[in-house]
Amino acid sequence: MGGMSESPAPLADPHLVFDPVADDGPRDIVVLGSTGSIGTQAIDLVLRNPDRFRVTALSAAGGRVALLAEQARRLRVRTVAVAREDVVPALREALREEYGAGEPLPDILAGPDAATELAASDCHTVLNGITGSIGLAPTLAALEAGRTLALANKESLIVGGPLVKALAKPGQIIPVDSEHAALFQALAAGTRADVRKLVVTASGGPFRGRTKADLANVTPADALAHPTWAMGPVITVNSATLVNKGLEVIEAHLLYDIPFDRIEVVVHPQSYVHSMVEFTDGSTLAQATPPDMRGPIAIGIGWPERVPDAAPAFDWSKASTWEFFPLDTEAFPSVGLARHVGELAGTAPAVFNAANEECVDAFLAGALPFTGIMETVTQVVAEHGTPSAGTSLTVADVLEAETWARARARELTATTTSSATAATRNQTTAEARA
Ligand SMILES: NC(=O)c1ccc[n+]([C@@H]2O[C@H](COP(=O)([O-])OP(=O)(O)OC[C@H]3O[C@@H](n4cnc5c(N)ncnc54)[C@H](OP(=O)(O)O)[C@@H]3O)[C@@H](O)[C@H]2O)c1
Repeated sequence: MGGMSESPAPLADPHLVFDPVADDGPRDIVVLGSTGSIGTQAIDLVLRNPDRFRVTALSAAGGRVALLAEQARRLRVRTVAVAREDVVPALREALREEYGAGEPLPDILAGPDAATELAASDCHTVLNGITGSIGLAPTLAALEAGRTLALANKESLIVGGPLVKALAKPGQIIPVDSEHAALFQALAAGTRADVRKLVVTASGGPFRGRTKADLANVTPADALAHPTWAMGPVITVNSATLVNKGLEVIEAHLLYDIPFDRIEVVVHPQSYVHSMVEFTDGSTLAQATPPDMRGPIAIGIGWPERVPDAAPAFDWSKASTWEFFPLDTEAFPSVGLARHVGELAGTAPAVFNAANEECVDAFLAGALPFTGIMETVTQVVAEHGTPSAGTSLTVADVLEAETWARARARELTATTTSSATAATRNQTTAEARA
């Protein structure tokens, strides 16, 4: 579908600075998803750099009100937002406990649109650290309101690529995903015409080196044990299936407007090199740090300046080994499928992502085997077919496609569960007979 490659300039470009107004004093930041892995690391950076950053508002789903109240008090925010209205009394209570007697409490916003409302509120930068495609509306709201968008929530770009492209001004999006922050920094070394390809690195996840057959019986606990990164559960399972890498290939295509056949994935178990850009003269520039998301988050909220000591650097007095391997596309078909849906564009990436989110939930609940995740997603994507070309995507199209994909994935996983249960029952019966 159009939109994907029609943009005159790439969405993210290190040579462009969106904000025409020089910052004097701390930069006002709104943190969406403040209680999550990205959010808490962003707050650590802000608290260590009060001269550079000030958080004006926080938003979360509402699962961790005590943490949210503590963050609000430490940062002295104006507003706290939660998606779940039922937690408002508990949040108010937690805030009262945190704040001293007689101290005014921050305003509370609640409801499914609370994060979207905050995304448009007065600030310099919105950090979108929400998990899942629910982050699309806040992404669009931040762009529309003219805020710089530090984007960790890759799902919003993936499901709503053309919508994001239509709204974003040059330089308005700064990527926070470590790979894209790495590409951003490496791309600064040349012009667009100099770029031959993007090389996205993948740790390979906890199941690197396993064959397709080996993966049949891995458990949620195995999948949640990521070797190099400590992240939220969805992205951690997505790292085990390499769906996350597939999403990142689509994200790289959308952010940097480089065709899929010029975006390569290479497995690099140490996660030291976060991605690379190969230039036309044969030179490759890599961005490297020990794995720590505070580096890319600092690029996201601090650009075009670097934040001193954002994250630890390498200790070159110690020996280290940096390895690179080609991707095993048979054991990990997700990257190929992601390229396919990225090429199809339209609603196909949204279907891929939504079906995957449902399957991850089913897997974590013990209702779907690990390999069932990609089998189910592949089937849902195939049934969705080729989205109509030439039409412009709307938010309603995305939501409709997602609703369908989730329902279809749930139907298929229910079938898988009942046949798996039946298989177990048959086996148990056979064992009992033996
Ligand atoms: N973690 C990483 O290292 C990493 C690296 C690269 C990219 N990313 C991307 O960053 C995003 C966040 O990942 P994460 O690992 O930080 O996830 P996470 O730890 O699961 O945190 C998710 C955050 O989003 C909040 N949230 C969920 N639904 C919400 C809603 N409807 N409105 C407002 N807030 C909502 C959660 O609130 P509750 O606490 O109340 O549930 C929590 O604060 C994802 O898109 C992920 O792919 C993460």
